[in-house]
Amino acid sequence: MHHQIVLLPGDGIGPEVTAAAVEVLRVVASRFGHEFVTTGFPIGGAALRSAGVPLPDSTLAACLKADAVLLGAVGDPAFDAIERSRRPEQGLLALRKAMQVYANLRPARTWPGLEDSGPLKASRVAGTDMIFVRELTGGLYFGEPRHYSADGSEALNTLRYSREEVTRVAEVAFRLARERRRVVTSVDKANVLETSQLWRAVTTDVAAKYPDVKLEHMYVDACAMALALDPRRFDVILTENLFGDILSDEAGAIVGSLGLLPSASIGIGPALYEPVHGSAPAIAAKDIANPIGAILSAGMMLRLSFGLAAEAGAIETAVTRVLSEGIRTADLLDGPGLPRVGCAAMAERIAAAI
Ligand code: IPM
Ligand code: MN
Repeated sequence: MHHQIVLLPGDGIGPEVTAAAVEVLRVVASRFGHEFVTTGFPIGGAALRSAGVPLPDSTLAACLKADAVLLGAVGDPAFDAIERSRRPEQGLLALRKAMQVYANLRPARTWPGLEDSGPLKASRVAGTDMIFVRELTGGLYFGEPRHYSADGSEALNTLRYSREEVTRVAEVAFRLARERRRVVTSVDKANVLETSQLWRAVTTDVAAKYPDVKLEHMYVDACAMALALDPRRFDVILTENLFGDILSDEAGAIVGSLGLLPSASIGIGPALYEPVHGSAPAIAAKDIANPIGAILSAGMMLRLSFGLAAEAGAIETAVTRVLSEGIRTADLLDGPGLPRVGCAAMAERIAAAI
């Protein structure tokens, strides 16, 4: 089968980790007899440099026509001082909005052998297996009006959600829970925010259609603590855009490294796959980044966009095998003395294990 993939390497470690994912896809294609055609386009700082805008029209047009989009990372400190509309991140946000990928799935699990790789006790994190469903095209990230006043005396952002926006992302979470342990934890700040009161009312309404799934509500501050105290208690975590951004980075630390986390953004039309980590400019172009988040994102693409469950499973099994052999990138803190490999070598090991 022939699949058209748009590749958006982006900035920082983005090009290295997408190249790693492409290497793994190449091996999957040859083992399983598929054809994945990848075409690269610029986004973020790379696009600002080459085209003067963070999301060129040609990049967006290609993404909207693709079978799926695989992105590396976006963000470049060279553009830190620039107005918001011309920052690299704006390219990614505009792309998510234009692709209407309103549900961002971020699985976070411990891998066998990696329980000691993060800062928490292995006994606390072993067996963690949760997935965030982060609302991705609304909330504070997109609310209007917004401004930074010309004289620098004030700034404004707007947090607004409609019943429809909450309903559609909640439906994704409940459907997903049915394939898992059937518990949805909806995270909000309903003791303070009206948007969260709406969030709670709508998720409760949606839950009525899924009587076999348990819904619990949790305040975001309590959730941040519960994640560190008892991450195993979570199954599906449903939350709004900014809370999901923050909590999913915390989840990265809990399961060992942010570099391990993949994501899939789904909605209307083609889906967008990207590791949860950022562009990490401090370690860019040193071949030390962890490519597993990007490689697992490619796996999610195979499963969710192309229906290739066996192929996606083969990638996950290969990752499990390589990690259980003790192969580590520099971000994983366990087992001093374990062989450290670079980004490209980790990708080669995983590809060879398929
Ligand atoms: C993420 C990133 C993005 C976000 C940035 C790069 C705009 O942090 O995907 O989590 O905040 O959504
Ligand atoms: Mn983030």
